[in-house]
Amino acid sequence: MCGIVGYIGPQDATPIILNGLRRLEYRGYDSAGLAVLQNHHIEVRRDAGKLSKLEALVADSPVHGHIGIGHTRWATHGAPSARNAHPHLGMTGEVVVVHNGIVENYIELRDELSAEGVVFNSDTDTEVIVHLVERYISSENGLVEAARKAMSHLKGAHGIVVISTREPDKIVAARIGNAGGVVIGIGEDEMFVASDMPAILEHTRQMVFLESRQMAVVSRDGLGVFALDGEPVPYEIQNVAWDPVSAEKGEYRHFMQKEIHEQVRSLTDTIAGRVDFEAGHIRLPELNLTPELARKIRKMYITACGTASHAGMVGKILIESIARIPVEVDIASEFRYRDPIIDEGTVVLAISQSGETADTLAAMEEARQKGATLWSIVNVIGSQAMRISDGYISMQTGPEIGVASTKAYTAPLVDVYMLAVLLGELRGTLPEKKRRVLVADLRLVPALAGKCLDREPQVEMIARALMNTSHCLYLGRGINMPTAYEGALKLKEISYIHAEGYPAGEMKHGPIALIDRSMPVIVIAPRDPWYEKMFSQLEQAKSRGGTVVALATDGDELIAGVADHVVWLPETPWMLTPVTSVIPLQMLAYHIAALRGLDVDQPRNLAKSVTVE
Ligand code: G6P
Repeated sequence: MCGIVGYIGPQDATPIILNGLRRLEYRGYDSAGLAVLQNHHIEVRRDAGKLSKLEALVADSPVHGHIGIGHTRWATHGAPSARNAHPHLGMTGEVVVVHNGIVENYIELRDELSAEGVVFNSDTDTEVIVHLVERYISSENGLVEAARKAMSHLKGAHGIVVISTREPDKIVAARIGNAGGVVIGIGEDEMFVASDMPAILEHTRQMVFLESRQMAVVSRDGLGVFALDGEPVPYEIQNVAWDPVSAEKGEYRHFMQKEIHEQVRSLTDTIAGRVDFEAGHIRLPELNLTPELARKIRKMYITACGTASHAGMVGKILIESIARIPVEVDIASEFRYRDPIIDEGTVVLAISQSGETADTLAAMEEARQKGATLWSIVNVIGSQAMRISDGYISMQTGPEIGVASTKAYTAPLVDVYMLAVLLGELRGTLPEKKRRVLVADLRLVPALAGKCLDREPQVEMIARALMNTSHCLYLGRGINMPTAYEGALKLKEISYIHAEGYPAGEMKHGPIALIDRSMPVIVIAPRDPWYEKMFSQLEQAKSRGGTVVALATDGDELIAGVADHVVWLPETPWMLTPVTSVIPLQMLAYHIAALRGLDVDQPRNLAKSVTVE
């Protein structure tokens, strides 16, 4: 999970950057590097592997200066290697950049720049950024203007920091969307830049957080913040308390809100290193899935508890559809006691954020005894579930603190998608052309999540309208039926409002009797293969007098004409719609609970990890 640190001031930048990167180590990374301006020249040190390797490099070949930037990288485009590690230098050696996020249109930009004669030195998407800055830097365009122009070409969500020998008195940093934050730390005659506060908290507590589409021009004794169109914008300096927990919470009121917002970054990390976009392949080496095993599988069970079980339900649809393996989803507390039929052609996949949930572990034990191959999708590295599995996928979301799971729900949605694609390829059920499309679609995921997050004010307004309700019904179908379950679970967990998720087609068999003006109905209706059915269910709910909140795809006038409130979703490939449609529901539950003044992060009676039966 990428991290950024930058420094400008009278001290030696190198140890400050190395210390800052050390404080971001907990996020996970596979390479590290720094660039320091030394005697009007940019010196770069970078390598694959842990920070100790970078430190050894710096010890062998020291570098000193008063301005510099550093980065820990979690590979997305291009393997973890020294040449792919950040920072990336331009061709002239005058500009250097570090970057968090994915440049969605990097292939087009790389082709365009190559045609202009640019030679690329890495396999990363990031490198296009430095060449774009170089394209624009000239006697008329300073670094700031060149960086601004470069950024106007980038699709996706980004945190970017640039320095140049041309203007050795400034760091330019920008945030576009939600690929993690960009924070400026204000010191005395010195300034710091970071992706996360803990990296710089030992130096200052005066922080400025950039909003999306803002750019900071940072000099030793000054800070200017601008919109990406060049207009200056006012900023607020926040005085952050010296407390590691609130430092971690950063600019957010609750961990849950922070974790909802971290999803662009956690989803970027989820696909990092697992996707070869050029060849259209998925790599999940820790799963130990051989072609022989893939062909041998006759049946899969997915077992889990709570939120994780909803991710399993999405997994069922994806694996059945793409890899043509029959999948049953079992709540772990049921699976362990129902004597499931298992043989050596069976794979049991457990999904667990903590990897320590007692029922899930017992279900895995049951599967082990009956001779199944045991896989897990787990967030906590080294947890029991991971240790007892024959193969695993690690979620890569970083620690999740809020009891109500958010980023550890969307990550396994993408994991099961990647698993389905890999199984489909190995079993020969997925034609190459379709595989390439499914793999390419993964690149869109982080920015689509970012677009959902951008609509938080709209969701907050709806939360205000619903905050005093006593009941709520969530309806979904097909791949978004689990989204209805998950949306309802989020609401009941943290706001204590009774909420039910229901397969929309079942509405006429019972829940329709409940619908009246006091029963809000949340209808999940993105453009997926079940869309038309969902639309008719929406009309039925409306005609019974229900207050209908619809989740609909941008531009869907039909739904806008019927629903009382619409939450707009970005156009998303249907197999990935569970990721985009759940984010507004997480935000809705969060805002309703926050408006009701409840303890969002630690709701009553609930535990983050349930280690008892
Ligand atoms: C508890 C948590 C839920 C979580 C469930 C399963 O109930 O409050 O948020 O979904 O356990 O936890 P796991 O760690 O196995 O995913």
